[in-house]
Amino acid sequence: MIGQSIHRILPDDRLIEEAFIFERIRHGERVEPFDTVRLRKDQASVHVSMTVSPILDSHGHIAGVCTIARDITERVRIDEALIARERELYQLAEAMPQVVWSTEADGRNTYFNQRWVSYTGLSLEESYGDGWTKPFHPDDRQRAWDAWRNAVTCGGGYSLECRLRRADGVYRWWLVRGVPFLDASGVITKWYGTCTDIQDMKQAEIETKRTRQLLAESEAQFRGAFETAAHGMALVSIDGTFTKVNQSLCKMLGYTESEFLQTTCRSITHPDDLEADLAHVRALLHGETDHYDREKRYRVRSGGVVWVLVSVSLIRACDGAPSHFVAQIQDISDRRAAEAVLCGKMTTSSRLSALGEMAGGIAHEINNPLAVIHALASDLAEQGFSAPGEAARCGGEIAQYADRIATIVRSLRHIARDGETDPFDEASISAIVQQTLVLCRARFRDEAVKLDVPPIDPELRILCREVQFSQILVNLLQNGFDAAQAQTGDKWVRLEVVTNDDQVTLSVIDSGKGIPEALKKRIMEPFFTTKPVGKGVGLGLSVSKKIAEDHGGTLEARESGGNTCFSLCLPLVRHRSAGCA
Ligand SMILES: Nc1ncnc2c1ncn2[C@@H]1O[C@H](COP(=O)(O)OP(=O)(O)OP(=O)(O)O)[C@@H](O)[C@H]1O
Ligand SMILES: [Mg+2]
Repeated sequence: MIGQSIHRILPDDRLIEEAFIFERIRHGERVEPFDTVRLRKDQASVHVSMTVSPILDSHGHIAGVCTIARDITERVRIDEALIARERELYQLAEAMPQVVWSTEADGRNTYFNQRWVSYTGLSLEESYGDGWTKPFHPDDRQRAWDAWRNAVTCGGGYSLECRLRRADGVYRWWLVRGVPFLDASGVITKWYGTCTDIQDMKQAEIETKRTRQLLAESEAQFRGAFETAAHGMALVSIDGTFTKVNQSLCKMLGYTESEFLQTTCRSITHPDDLEADLAHVRALLHGETDHYDREKRYRVRSGGVVWVLVSVSLIRACDGAPSHFVAQIQDISDRRAAEAVLCGKMTTSSRLSALGEMAGGIAHEINNPLAVIHALASDLAEQGFSAPGEAARCGGEIAQYADRIATIVRSLRHIARDGETDPFDEASISAIVQQTLVLCRARFRDEAVKLDVPPIDPELRILCREVQFSQILVNLLQNGFDAAQAQTGDKWVRLEVVTNDDQVTLSVIDSGKGIPEALKKRIMEPFFTTKPVGKGVGLGLSVSKKIAEDHGGTLEARESGGNTCFSLCLPLVRHRSAGCA
């Protein structure tokens, strides 16, 4: 190196340093240590810290230059790494969705990331120092300072929920947190922190609180409505246990609340209503329906039953699983009693209506024998007993005709009677049919409607109220008669009797034009009639159906060989033959 120019180690981009250094040296000044780059022999760069001092001779003239170059490659590497790390942290802070900040120990702000600038609309200059308090909501500002002072005094973390103003003037809730940075002696030198937007969380919190409040209010309302409802109300678990009942229900059935809570729906339901109840509950649980209404009987505590209308709904949990039942229970005993009276009246009305229809024929049926009796009696009065044996013949004939009249009157009195409260007695089907036909035959004959009745086995017996059984027959025959008569051509009504196991089916078939499809569903409804006023009141079939059901049987409309057919099906009474076990 001796004898070589300084340019050998001076990189081209540092040539400018030469002029600067020589300028200082010329003025006798020392160039303080400065970091620069020099070239190695192999032309690689090396970082050095240079100190250049003038060497003066004894006259104080510059005799040379003393240059000290210290290899600072390692320090530069560390510095560069630090700078890179710092840049990385800076980029990280800038990329965060939160506001990142730092302050001096006294709270004067020295750093905010861009999120702060974009949210508050304040420039960094406006925010530094005390500027950070500007966006705080006036109501929160004091709190923010207090929290800050407290954190400084305690040397702990800083945490505060407060509202910060957005650039457009809207305030949102933020969570501001900070941690102190301590030096080796434990003194706070800086604060670092973040602000996190918690508006959505706060909103959710407010909404949850509101929902809870609404729930509490509606629960209170439900409780009030439940307790004060005029009708009985109950909550029932899926296994049928009462879990909550109101006072109206306690009063209605006579059980105390605690007695209710130890019992089940099943145990206080009338046994005859249980099966239908269970079918409804099954439909609810299987999701086939969401509620049901039905009339049923509950056993009251003092004995006896009360008729109620229950409306039951199934409540499901959030996951759809059945949770419990809600039942409303209305006492309908009075209505049921009134209906029973009305039903009795309807039955009577229907019976009398059928009789009225038949009455014309019956009068004729009585008048004929009366006329014969009258003629015979007149003959006798005028001619006396001229021939031997004449008196006996006349008397015999008069007695015969009087018997016919007596039979008609007996039948008439029989069916005109109100048999609704009669006991169920064993009776011969054949006998009742014959008695009923006495009243109907004349009408059919007079109107030229053929009535075809087969011989009936006198041993066929049923358990019945005779009057009511006759009433069904009269109704069906009357309907058949009306239908057949309205037709041209062959007019007939036929009664068929078929037995099957323990049942007998009596079918009344007619030659009428049939029941229009659209009306089929309605004909059994009370007061449904297609007949002119004065001819029918629309009670015949509904009353007959009810009577059939009361006798454990059915009444149905069907077709038989293209003709209308009403079939009455009743259980037969079977007697064991002698000698059977
Ligand atoms: N055999 C039948 N053929 C065609 N329609 C019939 C027959 N029987 C009943 N119907 C229809 O059903 C309706 C209801 O019959 P229902 O016996 O209940 O009442 P009604 O005969 O009209 O009056 P009433 O109360 O006098 O019996 C009739 O009006 C008629 O339209
Ligand atoms: Mg009728």
